[in-house]
Parts: sequence; C-alpha cells; structure tokens
Amino acid sequence: MIISLLVLQSFVIGGSGRVIKLWGEESIAGDDVAEEGTRWAVLVAGSSGFGNYRHQADVCHAYQLLRKGGVKEENIVVFMYDDIAMSPFNPRPGIIINHPQGPDVYAGVPKDYTGENVTTQNLYAVILGDKTRLKGGSGKVINSKPNDRIFIYYSDHGGPGVLGMPNTPNLYAMDFIEVLQKKHASGGYKEMVIYVEACESGSLFEGIMPKDINVYVTTASNAQELSFGTYCPGMDPSPPSDFPTCLGDLFSVAWMEDSESHNLKRETLQQQYQAVKTRTSNSNNYELGSHVMEYGDTNLKDERLYLYQGFDPETVNFPSHNPNLQAPVMQQVMNQRDAELLFMWHMYNRSEHESNKKTEMLKQIKETVKHRMHLDYSMELIGTFLYGRQGPRVLERARQPGMPLVDDWTCLKSMVRVFETQCGSLTQYGMKHMRAFANLCNDRISEAAMEEACRAACGAYNVGEMHPSNTGYSA
Ligand SMILES: *[C@@H]1O[C@H](CO)[C@@H](O)[C@H](O)[C@H]1NC(C)=O
Ligand SMILES: *[C@@H]1O[C@H](CO)[C@@H](O)[C@H](O)[C@H]1NC(C)=O
Repeated sequence: MIISLLVLQSFVIGGSGRVIKLWGEESIAGDDVAEEGTRWAVLVAGSSGFGNYRHQADVCHAYQLLRKGGVKEENIVVFMYDDIAMSPFNPRPGIIINHPQGPDVYAGVPKDYTGENVTTQNLYAVILGDKTRLKGGSGKVINSKPNDRIFIYYSDHGGPGVLGMPNTPNLYAMDFIEVLQKKHASGGYKEMVIYVEACESGSLFEGIMPKDINVYVTTASNAQELSFGTYCPGMDPSPPSDFPTCLGDLFSVAWMEDSESHNLKRETLQQQYQAVKTRTSNSNNYELGSHVMEYGDTNLKDERLYLYQGFDPETVNFPSHNPNLQAPVMQQVMNQRDAELLFMWHMYNRSEHESNKKTEMLKQIKETVKHRMHLDYSMELIGTFLYGRQGPRVLERARQPGMPLVDDWTCLKSMVRVFETQCGSLTQYGMKHMRAFANLCNDRISEAAMEEACRAACGAYNVGEMHPSNTGYSA
C-alpha cells in the first residue's frame, strides 16, 4: 500500500513527454511500457597508437551518443589508452573526430581506465562490479541491480578467440563469457547487449555463447574474416587531408550513424542489426566488408534501442528505421591489420625529404614488415615440422560453423605462451595466427612438441629484439 502510494505520488504527467518516476529512477515513458532500472554501459578501445586512432575515436563517439541519450556519466565506464588527443601526430590537438566532417567527440569523455590501467583484469572487475579486484583507474564499476540493462561496446583488433588490449594479456573469449555468466548468476542485470568490432570477432562467441543468460551479441565479422577501418586517408570518403590515419571502423560507424539518425524509442535491435549488416557488407562485397553476426539470446531483438542507448529528445521526429536498405553507399575501407602500415606510409610520404622523421618512419615500416614476415614464416615452419608438407594448410583450417574455435581454452593460452617465449611477441598483427594455435590444441599436439618446433623454427630469432611496439606505432 505504502509502495503503491509512493509510485503514484511520483507520477508527473506532462503532455506527450510524460516523465515517470519509478523507484527513484527517472525515465521517459516510451511509446509502449515505462521501464524500470538503470542503463549502464562499458565502452572499450583495446588498442593504442595513432595508427589505431579509429578505435578510440569510435569509443569516444559512443560515449557522446549515450550521453545525448540521457545515460548518466556515473553509469558509463570508459576504457581507452588516451594517447590520441594529445599525440604529436594529431593535426587537431585536443580533439578527436570519428567522421570526416564530424564534431569533436573527445571533450568530456571520462578518464576511467587509461594508459596502464586498460587491462582485461580491470575490465572483468568493472563488469562484475568488484572493486576489490581493480588495479588503478577511477574505481568506477558496473554496480548494477537485477532490473538494470547493460550495454557493452568493444572496438579493437582481434583474432580467432581473442580481442586485443593495449596492455597484455589479451582478452580470451572463454574468460569473457565466464565473466558474463558470473554476472548473470549474481543477478547483476535484467538484459545485456554487446556490440564487438574486431577481426574475426564472431569467433569470440561462435559455439560458446550461451542463449539463456539474457545477453544479445552482434559482431562486426564472422569467425573467419577481417573487419575494416574506414574514413581512411586516400580513400573515399576520406578524412581531412592533414589526417594520416583512419577515423573509424565500418561496423562501428554504421551502428552509431544509424542510432543518430533514428528515433531509438521506435527502432528495435533487430532493425539496427539489419541496417548495420547491410552497410557493413559494403554492398555484399566481402573483400571490402564483413558479415555482421548475432549470438546469444535473439529473443531480445524486438526490444527498442533506447533501453540500452537512451533517447535523445531531438530525434523524436526521426524515422524508426531505414526502409530502403537495398542501396547503401559503397564505402572505401582498409582491413584492420594493414591500417597501421597505411598510417606509417602516410607519415613517411608526408615527412620532408631526407629529414630524421622520414628516416625514422622508414625504419619503423621496415621493422614492422620484418616482424610480420618473421611471424608468418615461423608459423609455416612450425606447421611443416609438426604435420609435414601440408602443415601450413592444416594449421589454417576452420571448423564447422557453430563449433567453438577450440575445445580447451587453457591449452590455447599455453600454446601462445610457448610460441611467444621462443619466437617473440605475437603483436596485434600476429593474432591472425590464433586459429593455428587452436588447431594444435584440437589435434592434441603436446606443449612439449610445440616447444621443440618453436625452438627449431625460431632458434635464430633473438627474442630480446622485440617488435618496437605491441600496439602500433606510438610516439
Ligand atoms: C592508473 O590508475 C592510478 C590509480 O587511480 C592512477 O594514479 C594512474 O595515474 C593511472 N594511470 C594512468 C596512465 O592513467
Ligand atoms: C605522397 O605525397 C605527395 C606529395 O605530398 C602526394 O602528391 C602523393 O599523392 C602522396 N602519395 C600517396 C600515395 O599518398
């Protein structure tokens, strides 16, 4: 009785923009039901370096979008290395853009977890709301309740079964999913939506994402393909001419530009998925686009986007979805793994003839290419040693769709550790070889046999002479 009185008392009726107060949470009544609970978000840019500008730009943009939608700063946790805005390479110091004509998206973004504090350990602690396991950072966590909704968005490099982090270790799919299960078991949310942009991002969820924990996931690519940077120098549409780096990623700008041009109280998750899938396919050209995938509990798809991304009152007259999905604009793109080299090349080409900077850039390009060749060649040799002449092809083979990448995720980590000990850092580029490590585990090749093969293949390699940067060229 007392409770219902309280609820009644806190109804404020005011025309179409009815504001309803429920249990102390302010919300705007939608076209359908009034919602309860709080919206939370975790935004992660998993890279560093100016050559990876686009990941942090994506995440800053997502922050602004959620804030415009009314999601509170205290409920959004941001992970970004934060070396872009003040980078000496930045032609617009203090500013980050995510579109050639776009506004600054950097101002106001909270520095929750930056630099050394951008780690998988902190990410898991944040999602679980477990302050005791944090190391550094602002201490902000997802302190959510059973009625709350959580939105997670991750933009980065990836490889089969992994997402990058600017500080090692990388995120492994099974660990991430166990964190989600733990959050679910603790009654930590009502529903959750996860968007992931990375190469091979489907492999994070394929065959292992549970359907019964109220989590709906979409990924930029399937388990076996690249994802793409866009608004890249020398391409159409191109960034302002003084930018040597890509401004965004195709799937990421597709969902955010879709959200900004629609009424999110009307548009459903399903409609956004379709629109983003169409645009990210780049007119069904999978050399220059990828297959957007979905995993987890697809029953959530009829829900309206504002439940996760909020609602900007200025969009009230915007359409609910794009009825004409047949003819998206063809957008020029760069595969994520080569975008870093493209950046170095543009820096090189722009530097003055015979300057120190030019020499330094050329050296960086050569070292990067050399390390890539070393990684690829070592993997080929290891395959040959372990499987004979067909080895390299055996290592690359993919499992049936719907099967997990690997049966034993602990083995996968061990194989990576053995390889890195003998052959040097895998780097973001080398994440492409994760499938080979997974296949070794699936074939029950022993760690000892792998170690022998690595020692033979990489014996001449000086592990001390690591790649200059694990994360793209950063000044
Ligand atoms: C990491 O977090 C600690 C504790 O909050 C802070 O003192 C430090 O400056 C942070 N490091 C970076 C690079 O932000
Ligand atoms: C390299 O720089 C020159 C002069 O600045 C420019 O004309 C040319 O288009 C650039 N080449 C590439 C591939 O960007």
